[in-house]
Parts: sequence; structure tokens; C-alpha cells
Amino acid sequence: MTDSNFSNNAWYERAKKSLVGGVSSPVRSFNAVGGTPLTITEGNGAHIKDVEGRTYLDYVQSYGASILGHAHPKVVEAIQQAASKGTTFGATTPGEIELAERIKDRVKGLELIRFVSSGTEATMSAIRTARGATGKSKIIIFSGCYHGHSDFLLASGGSGIASLAIPSTKGVPASYTQHTVIANYNEIPIIDNDTAAVIVEPVAANMGLVEPQPGFLLELRKVCDNVGALLIFDEVITGFRVNKGGASTLYGVRPDLWCFGKIIGGGLPLAAFGGRADVMEELAPVGKVYQAGTLSGNPVATAAGSAVLDLLNDESYESLKSKATKLSSGLRQVIGQRGIAASITQVETLLGIHFSGNPVKNFEEAQKAANNGKYKQFFHEMLKDFISFAPGPYESIFISLAHSDSDLNKTVEAADATAFKMSKTEFLTY
Ligand SMILES: Cc1ncc(COP(=O)(O)O)c(C=O)c1O
Repeated sequence: MTDSNFSNNAWYERAKKSLVGGVSSPVRSFNAVGGTPLTITEGNGAHIKDVEGRTYLDYVQSYGASILGHAHPKVVEAIQQAASKGTTFGATTPGEIELAERIKDRVKGLELIRFVSSGTEATMSAIRTARGATGKSKIIIFSGCYHGHSDFLLASGGSGIASLAIPSTKGVPASYTQHTVIANYNEIPIIDNDTAAVIVEPVAANMGLVEPQPGFLLELRKVCDNVGALLIFDEVITGFRVNKGGASTLYGVRPDLWCFGKIIGGGLPLAAFGGRADVMEELAPVGKVYQAGTLSGNPVATAAGSAVLDLLNDESYESLKSKATKLSSGLRQVIGQRGIAASITQVETLLGIHFSGNPVKNFEEAQKAANNGKYKQFFHEMLKDFISFAPGPYESIFISLAHSDSDLNKTVEAADATAFKMSKTEFLTY
């Protein structure tokens, strides 16, 4: 028996002996839904294959890092060509400059960029830059938004008015979050003169998908300007996903700094932050804010990112949007018909599902929907039909350009059967 013939169970048992909890990132575990995580051997377009040789229609798409689908030939070719010339030099490469130019071309108002290797680094460094530029310490974040795992961003607070955050995980000293204030998404917090920056997911995609209420982003822009605080849009998910220019273009609100990740690396570890030149020039080597990285702007990752961006034109976004509309309306119809309370949110090409009677506006509402156990049922029943959604209720649904009409029809049919079983719990077999 070759290794690839081992079952998911066997691989998981083996994984746990060398990887903590059997995974390299906790979101990949099935802790939120129960069961054994799949061990994946390959992906092609909209599909992934597990170690048992089973093929699944994939709506995780590496949590949004993949927008063309897996192993797109043009991206594979770009990676192979770049790798054949050397994978890292510790020096600037033409490909790095070209990707920065492609990003600037698409994002109105973005003047200078710094590449990093993960979204976590992008947000951490953007905030350091904002603090350096303003000389202030306080930052405001919103409950339910995720900005990676730097200590001062792993914070939570009480519901209600904006409050001083406390660490949301063991291992972060309280002093690390003493300058972090946590506010409710879709509510304008009171921002004082000590505030360096407000960081927000312009479309919240880490508490299920939550749309900004009309005027929310514009009002944030105004209150930041009133006190000289910088506005940071964390577009690690929305960047080059919701449309060609990201959420700032979609809503017509220009932040001072942007954070990007996922799509710009074409499936390789690459992220970036950027924005106003006068703010970005606070960074070393021009300014006095230190920030660095051995693999930052890696030539293989930037080649992959450029190959992806070159394939994303107005037509691609139209196509993605029509796929998203077809899926959201199909899901809404079949789940609704079975009497299951569910709210399907669509923002252009992004989708999310909350098992809630009403659209969700903030984290408190998202938590209520997440805790009713319905997502777990939905997830497992869909997986039995070889359709893979994220193993947790707080993730978004990611469609790629490789998802075909028949893939979407199949998903809606499976969702109908799933919703039927959910309405008759005696059919649920776990
Ligand atoms: C909005 C947002 N910001 C930041 C991050 C952190 O990115 P990374 O996982 O690359 O560190 C994520 C990750 O999912 C994200 O969704």
C-alpha cells in the first residue's frame, strides 16, 4: 500500500504525531464541526482530491487565496519559470517591481507598497507604520474582524460601546493589548486624539460575510479625519476579490493604508501593505519605522501573483459575479423552501451563509447564528455529497473562475437535499 492509499483517518492519526493537532493552522482542524479533517493531495480548477482518491467541489479555495481555481496552467508555468531562475536572492527583482505596479494600477490612491509574506505581517506592519507616522499609540479594531495573529490584534472586548480590549488568547500579556480598543462592526466608535489608526475589514469576511451598512465606511473616514487618525482597510480577503480594485473602489472610500494578501501571491506566501506615500515613507530605509523580511517580495511568489492579476479583467469579475449570484439565489431558494432560517449574503463575488432569520450586522449576531449548530449539519451533509465548505461557521464561501454552471447546479441540488435533512433531523446520521 502506498502512502497515498492511506485513509484520511490514518493520515490524521499520523499527522498528530508530528504536527500540533494534526494541522499547521487551527482553522484547518475540524474542531468547530467535529470529525476528521481531509488530507488533500492535489487540486485542479474548482476541485480538490483527498488521500482516498475522492474528489470534492471546493468552496474553500485556500480561504480565498485562489481565485482562478487550483493549478491554473498559466500560474503553474509562471511559477516554474521563476523557480528555474532562482527562488530567492535577498535583492530587488524586476518581477517584484512589476507586481507592485500592477497593484498600484488597480487600486486608486495607493502610492507606495511594501511586500511581506503573510497577511499577519501586513496588518502588523501597517499599524506600526501608522503609529510611527502619527506618533500615537491607540488603535481601534472591530469585533469579529480578523487581522491575523499579532499579539495586539488578538483582542476581544465586551459588547456595547467601544471598550478597551483584553487578550483573546492565552499567551498574550494584557499589556500588549492596552492600546487596542474594540468596537462593534457597523457602529461608528468615538475616536479620540490619541488614536493612531482604525483598522477594518471593509467587508467583514471572518464572521461569515457581513456587509458594511450604507455609510459605515464613509463615516469612519470622516471621524478618522476629525482627529488625525489613519484609516486602514484590511483587504487581505476583499482585495482583487470583490472587483478589480477591491473594496475601496467598490464603496468609493479611500483609506490611508491598505493591507493585501491571498490573491496577490497566486497561492504562494505573499502579502503587502501600502498607501499614501507620505505615510509609507516613514518606513526604513527612507524613514525611521523598522520593518523587514528575508523572503519579502519573493520572486516565485511575485511571478505567481502577476500571472493571476493578468488573468483578472473586467470580464472575469463579471463572470465571477454571475456565478456568485447564481449560487446565492439558488441556495436562498432551496434552503428557504425547506423552512430553514438562513441568510445568504452576497457582496459582488463574495458569499457567506449565516443560519439566522435576519441578515447579520455584527459579531454578536454572527455568534448567535454560529452557535445554533446548523452550520455543522450543513457542512457535514454537503461534504457527504463531495462539496467542501470551510469547517467552521465564520468563514466565507469562495467561488473561483473554474466553478462551472454544472458545479453550481450540483451545489444547489445538494443544498436542497441537505436542507431537507436539516428540516427532518431524524435523517441526520452523525
Ligand atoms: C482579513 C484578513 N486579514 C489578515 C489575515 C491574516 O493573513 P495570514 O493568514 O496570511 O497571516 C487574514 C487571514 O485569513 C484575513 O482574512
